[in-house]
Amino acid sequence: MRKEKSPTFLNPANLLTVNQEIELTITSLSHGGSGVGRFDDFVVFVPFTAPHDVARVQILNLKKNYAEGKLLEIISSSNLRAIPQCSVFGQCGGCQWQNIKYSEQLHQKQLIVEHALSRIAKEDRLEILPIISALNPYHYRNRAQVRAEGSKVGFYQRGSHHLVEFEKCWIVDDKINVEIEKIKLERKNLDEFKTSKIEIFLTEKGEVHRSLNRSHGDKTGFSQVNTSQNLKMQEYICSLLPTPRKVDADNVGSNGNLLDLYCGNGNFSLPLSNQGWRIYGVDNNRNAINAAREKRNDQTFYSVNDCHSELQKLVLRKRKFEAILIDPPRIGVYEAIWPDLAKLGAEQIIYVSCNPATFARDWSRLRNKSSYKLLSVQPFDMFPQTFHVELVAQMSAN
Ligand SMILES: C[S@@+](CC[C@H](N)C(=O)[O-])C[C@H]1O[C@@H](n2cnc3c(N)ncnc32)[C@H](O)[C@@H]1O
Repeated sequence: MRKEKSPTFLNPANLLTVNQEIELTITSLSHGGSGVGRFDDFVVFVPFTAPHDVARVQILNLKKNYAEGKLLEIISSSNLRAIPQCSVFGQCGGCQWQNIKYSEQLHQKQLIVEHALSRIAKEDRLEILPIISALNPYHYRNRAQVRAEGSKVGFYQRGSHHLVEFEKCWIVDDKINVEIEKIKLERKNLDEFKTSKIEIFLTEKGEVHRSLNRSHGDKTGFSQVNTSQNLKMQEYICSLLPTPRKVDADNVGSNGNLLDLYCGNGNFSLPLSNQGWRIYGVDNNRNAINAAREKRNDQTFYSVNDCHSELQKLVLRKRKFEAILIDPPRIGVYEAIWPDLAKLGAEQIIYVSCNPATFARDWSRLRNKSSYKLLSVQPFDMFPQTFHVELVAQMSAN
């Protein structure tokens, strides 16, 4: 019988082959969660490793500029490791970093932001402010989506339809865990093949609600999952945009105009309007705007529209804004937005981002098309135990 040969995709330096086992020292963590080591300068990503681990790794995938490996054995364990609290850590995929001490998670997130800005936007001299940590690195999420198959309740493993059952989830609010226990009891003897998607969430008053077979945020659009960190972020943004005093041609003071692009349910619009801004919020999700309108005051105005289409309309109408807040999804902003945005005359732009790489790309595009300067970048840890990092950047027209 012909012996199956293992595929040998050689990387440029012919250093590695698929299935090869190597010894690797992990030096950092990547945006994506994996540990990063270098094998003779060639980058190798290995999930569930920690900086300073020395590990035996099997190469699974070889790409032009990097390889992906599987952790086989820890040869020497890093002192930055923590014992994961969750019994299904590594299987469920919701958390990537429960095996890393919280102080180190913060350090690595800071490095991820610095790295994105220097590598993608070539911003080497800007000092990134120290990341704002979470008071509770566990039990912070105000919503969770579980799957139920007959009497089994759990999370889908990342990127698959494999149901992972768990005793309790360490990153959701404990009220949500109590509700999950109730669901498990209700379904104890249920014999049903259909999979149900159950979203469990806390209302602003802290009550627990459920919705069945709806997509995340169907009813109200996007909402921030970490309530206490969101409050800190709201306060921080309000401090960057102090009470405006716009002086009209006839020298009468009036409120400044602030354009809140990707405003969602008015999460930032409302506190900013309370400190004197006149807000024009835009989001393409009607449910989000309906939720924003429910809490509106006489300083908030909203439009359901695509941000770029709305910007083009505002430019045609020669509207001016003293400040612009942008909080796009992970993919960032369309390139075509920047020339129009620069025409609105804003003295300040605040960009909230949940993806340092797309932020760095977007900032370099804006910098190339305008005279805006990047004044500060403040990372926030909204998602402890995961690799995700949020940031608030402040740009000024002069
Ligand atoms: C990261 S969320 C931010 C929401 C809000 N600022 C908050 O803090 O809750 C991004 C928002 O962008 C909206 N969105 C995505 N693509 C859009 C587009 N092309 N035009 C307008 N809104 C869009 C989504 O509906 C979502 O509400």
